[in-house]
Order: sequence, then C-alpha cells, then structure tokens
Amino acid sequence: MFLVTGATGNVGAELVRALAESGERVRALSRAGRSEGLPAGVAAVAGDLDRPESVRPALDGVRGLFLMPGYGGQRQILADARDAGVERVVLLSGRSAGTGDRGNAVAGYLIDAEDAVRASGLRWTSLRCTSFMSNALRLVEQIAKGDTVRVPFPDARTADVDPYDIAQVALYALRSDDWADRALELTGPQALLPADRIRILGETLGRDLRAVGLTHEETRAELEASGMPKPYVDAFFAFFVDGTLDESEVLPTVERVTDRAPRTFDQWARVHAAAFG
Ligand SMILES: NC(=O)c1ccc[n+]([C@@H]2O[C@H](COP(=O)([O-])OP(=O)(O)OC[C@H]3O[C@@H](n4cnc5c(N)ncnc54)[C@H](OP(=O)(O)O)[C@@H]3O)[C@@H](O)[C@H]2O)c1
Repeated sequence: MFLVTGATGNVGAELVRALAESGERVRALSRAGRSEGLPAGVAAVAGDLDRPESVRPALDGVRGLFLMPGYGGQRQILADARDAGVERVVLLSGRSAGTGDRGNAVAGYLIDAEDAVRASGLRWTSLRCTSFMSNALRLVEQIAKGDTVRVPFPDARTADVDPYDIAQVALYALRSDDWADRALELTGPQALLPADRIRILGETLGRDLRAVGLTHEETRAELEASGMPKPYVDAFFAFFVDGTLDESEVLPTVERVTDRAPRTFDQWARVHAAAFG
C-alpha cells in the first residue's frame, strides 16, 4: 500500500495514476478526501498535513509515502510513518534546496523538509524539481480572454519538467532502494523562455498567441496583489532576476531513472490542451 499526499495536485494525481496502473494499492490523500477522477480501486482519504493526527490513520499498512513539502506537521507525520512501519518516503522538493540558502523563503522551507526526511529514520529520496510545466495553467484565464499573454520574468530560461515525469521517478523511488538516501535533480528536456512556451501553446491550440514580457515592477505588483507573501515574492526575484538559481541546465536524471526521455513542453501542451478551453 502506498500513501500519496497532494493527491489532487499536479504531481500527486499523476503518481496516483502511475501506481494504480502498475497494480499497486493506493490511498490518495487530500484535505477533503476527494474521490472524483481517481482510478478504480484507489481509496480517497481525508487528512490535513498541518494536523498530523488527521493523517495518522491513513499510514496504517503503508509501505511507501509520497510527501508534499513544507507543511507544519511534517516531522510528526514522518515519526508516525516510522512507527507505522512505513519503509520509504519520497519528498517533492525543488532545485533551490540545493542552494542551501535558508534566507530565501522558498529554499528555506524546502531545506527544512529535506532535513526532516533525512532525520526520519526511513529510506528517503528528495525530488529536487525545476519549475513545473503545469505552471502554464496559471495562464488559462488570460488565454481565454485573448491572444496577448503577459508573462513574468520574460528573460528566465528554464528547463521545466512535466509533473508526469516527476511522478514516474517517484514511482521508481517508492518501490525500490535503488534511489534511496539521495536527492535527485529533475528537469525537462529543453530550456525554454516564457515566450517559447507561449508560441508552443499557440501552435497546439491553433491560436496566434503572443507573449508580452512584464517589467519587474509589474511582476512584483501582480504577485503581491495575488496575495503572495513578500518573502516569497523576494525569493522568486532572487531566482529569476538576481540569478541565484540556474534552472536552465538540462539534466539526464529522469531518463537515468525511468529509462525513457522526459516529456517535452509540446507533449505537455497536447495532453492539457482541454484545460485552455
Ligand atoms: N510549481 C513549481 O514550479 C514547483 C517547482 C518545484 C517544487 N514545487 C513544489 O511542488 C509543490 C506543489 O506541487 P503540485 O503542483 O503537485 O501541487 P498543487 O497542484 O499545487 O496541489 C497542492 C496539493 O496539496 C494538497 N494540499 C494543500 N494543502 C494541504 C494540507 N494542508 N493538507 C493536505 N493536503 C494539502 C492539495 O489538496 P487539497 O487542496 O485538495 O486538499 C493538492 O492536492 C509545492 O510544495 C512546491 O514547493 C513546485
């Protein structure tokens, strides 16, 4: 039995599918215990990662745990997992954890989560992912309104990874010790600019989409207006403007683990075209 947290999210939903297709028994945890869209045979369970006591019953009989990072209950959940006989934990982390910069709010919470899994007494794997291809879903509303798409950080070239591939790597790491006790850096196969992704989305949707770069002042104002706390806005500026994180390098890890090339952005776009209307 495997317990997947974040099961209604981009990566968790892919992992639930991948485990179920491999014939594994799966519990899919979200706060509401949502069952819509789950593959046949998968059990939906309710639990809040900020309230470890609400997660404890779901750990019963579990062999492998897929854990979302940064929630208040993470250390207690890991201790409960150990008590329940869980063998392995796979943590969803990010490339910035590798910077070691605890002063950066995003890197800081990922480093804390990595410290927690390392100290858990379980076999662990941290998946240090680049930006997700699914971040393009944040553009759905704009693209529904017209062909001009305003993008933040227009000069930031990143080798985004498809959550599908993160889940494929998690599948391997959850079921064997081959990738245990280490951090794996995951990227997609191409380093692209935001404008490249908009062009590819346009080609996929049969639309004449055009990217317009936001200035840094506009980006800061929009992120703050969206309710993102200032330390997180500062963190993204440190990555994409000050260059404290290089997300443009393409790494071979996905292929090394899964023996299959990672998906390109146009493959992601074809699979998710319906989300853009
Ligand atoms: N986006 C990127 O570019 C990027 C890059 C590297 C790392 N990451 C990391 O990836 C994570 C996001 O992954 P994702 O995109 O797969 O997720 P997502 O689509 O943002 O979904 C979040 C998931 O977490 C669940 N959740 C939220 N709060 C919860 C709580 N208190 N207790 C239990 N479950 C809770 C949500 O379920 P319900 O709301 O249904 O409860 C949902 O299943 C972030 O932690 C981020 O640090 C992201």
